[in-house]
Amino acid sequence: MIRSKLGSDTIVMVGLMGAGKTTVGRRLAQRLNLPFVDADHEVERAAGMLVSDIFEQHGEAHFRDGERRVIARLLESGPQILATGGGAYMDEETRRNITSKGISIWLKCSHKLLMTRVRKRDGRPLLKTDNPDAIMQDLIDKRYPVYGQADLTVVSRDVTHNTIVNDAVRALRSYFDPDQDH
Ligand code: S3P
Repeated sequence: MIRSKLGSDTIVMVGLMGAGKTTVGRRLAQRLNLPFVDADHEVERAAGMLVSDIFEQHGEAHFRDGERRVIARLLESGPQILATGGGAYMDEETRRNITSKGISIWLKCSHKLLMTRVRKRDGRPLLKTDNPDAIMQDLIDKRYPVYGQADLTVVSRDVTHNTIVNDAVRALRSYFDPDQDH
């Protein structure tokens, strides 16, 4: 049902670093038998550089320009699942593109769990500071009101990824078929 209602639209995963956009997005794609694409990965491919190197050598504004262009292009290729980088949905033009070409799912996650997860992997330029905890809190304060504009919100918590995928599927079913009891 979800696939047929989706048409050529894209399901877009939104949320902060560590929310599970890529992991959950990839599993959701398997579940719905849809292709999966990761925006950061595509930006890296287009630039021939890692995200952290783009930030370091060209600055954040340059990264954001590339990110905006890449996401606009990717949104033409639905149906699919697209995981965006944490800052992408903050861009007004990207938000507009996502609204017109897709359905957005915000993976909402607590500060504590985000920090547990991001500590496991280096390479996030925004958190390369003396106080990543404070930066993360600041990002939560600034971004959560905007992420809240997403079509659907799924709470990412410390349970199996499969559980979150189930929640996302349920949310999508209710979105497409609100009269049914899901
Ligand atoms: C960013 C999140 C990163 C990446 C870049 C900036 C952000 O992606 O795009 O480091 O502004 O939150 P993930 O959310 O996939 O870590």
